[in-house]
Amino acid sequence: MDTKVIDFIHTHRDQFVEQMKDWLRIPSVSALSEHAGDVRAAADWAVGELARLGFDNAGLRETPGNPIVYAEWLKAEGAPTVLYYGHYDVQPVDPIDLWTTPPFEPTVRDGEIFARGAADDKGQVFMHFKALEAWLSQTGRLPVNFKIILEGEEEVGSKNLDAFIAANKDLLAADVVVISDTGMFDRGVPSICYGLRGLAYCQIDITGSHTDLHSGQFGGALANPAFTLAQMLSQLKDRSGRIKIPGFYDDVEPLSDAERAEFKKLPFNEKRFARELGAPKLTGETGFTTLERLSARPTLEVNGLLSGFTGEGAKTVLPAKAMAKVSMRLVPNQDPDRIADLFAEHVKKIAPKTVHVEVTKMHGGKPWKASLDNPFVRAAAGAIEAGFGREPLFTREGGSIPVVASFQDILGLPSVLFGIGLPDDRIHAPNEKLDLGNFHNGVVAAAHLYENIAGARE
Ligand code: BES
Ligand code: ZN
Repeated sequence: MDTKVIDFIHTHRDQFVEQMKDWLRIPSVSALSEHAGDVRAAADWAVGELARLGFDNAGLRETPGNPIVYAEWLKAEGAPTVLYYGHYDVQPVDPIDLWTTPPFEPTVRDGEIFARGAADDKGQVFMHFKALEAWLSQTGRLPVNFKIILEGEEEVGSKNLDAFIAANKDLLAADVVVISDTGMFDRGVPSICYGLRGLAYCQIDITGSHTDLHSGQFGGALANPAFTLAQMLSQLKDRSGRIKIPGFYDDVEPLSDAERAEFKKLPFNEKRFARELGAPKLTGETGFTTLERLSARPTLEVNGLLSGFTGEGAKTVLPAKAMAKVSMRLVPNQDPDRIADLFAEHVKKIAPKTVHVEVTKMHGGKPWKASLDNPFVRAAAGAIEAGFGREPLFTREGGSIPVVASFQDILGLPSVLFGIGLPDDRIHAPNEKLDLGNFHNGVVAAAHLYENIAGARE
């Protein structure tokens, strides 16, 4: 390893944080159309940065939705090619009053930087920008060929990404995908993620009458949609936490004894986990440990409910409608389309005749699990050790990055998930932050990663 590269990273530690703030200040919330201009500004910012680093063909590739940032550096003749993927869009910030400092005014407190997107995912992408800058500015080269794509719709279901990948197979041809959009197992416990859950997201709409009604005048003679919806939702799982949709578990790959043994070795304290979340007691599917429930088993969750009067005071009303957003996290080899179909069919079947029920299938994504016996995983493990002073553990995560399965399916590429977030980074929640010690070690690790990949061949 060229010491100039690492020295550059150490001496520019504070500048890196100031530069990161510029990107974090741009409110690139993909879910809200009022931020469309900001989303584009965040993409432009990344293009400018990549061009400044010395990347070629840095620019926006248009899609029917938000643009994809693309740039390349292809001068490492004979070396492998890395395809880096990340996302520049962020989640909405509500509830805004729970933020200690405003989400788009990045602020450092106690060695952590607070801002929407700090961990998910701009801060982690920026960590690679800085590792690339260290290589290019200090040696004039990269150890590998490098292509980068940054998406602006990851947080809203990546609607246009698969088509972009399928239409640009040559442009994106590579040997391995690198992504930093996951977390470490715990503070001081670096890890490489080898599994992600998939997702099937649906909305249930129930209507009982043309309009809201006086609950005294009409209540008792017709169905209450809020109550009917609650009854239906309560039927979706049994008392042991098992999902009661027929066929739901058909394709679930069972946990092997070997994998269960590995899970048991992970340093995990259930009591501390519950305490830190403020949960009085943990619960979940019978027969599985908390860690297994969190990543290796499928789930069904209600993400939101809407019905009737929820304002101040009391209003006697029979709501005309009720709505629930329900999503299911999936594990190999469940297929999101099939699961959404089974869900819709089952919800219709258990609906009483007293209401109209509509089920809308929203976005989804396939689950993913990597084999660990590829040289790129070893390259990543060595890099983590160089950056964090400790060998990584191998873990599965419960979140989803649908494109990882697409890279495998469409381009035939393995992915290395090189995430440095922490479980308490509060991604998607108020006071999202990134640990600056992790960020700094991550820049060092990423610089090593490219060199290690240069020495790895499948
Ligand atoms: N960075 C997350 C994915 C993630 C979260 C991985 C936690 C591992 C642990 C990503 O930005 C995300 O939130 N993805 C969405 C995908 C969905 C919209 C299809 C998710 O998991 O909800
Ligand atoms: Zn996210």
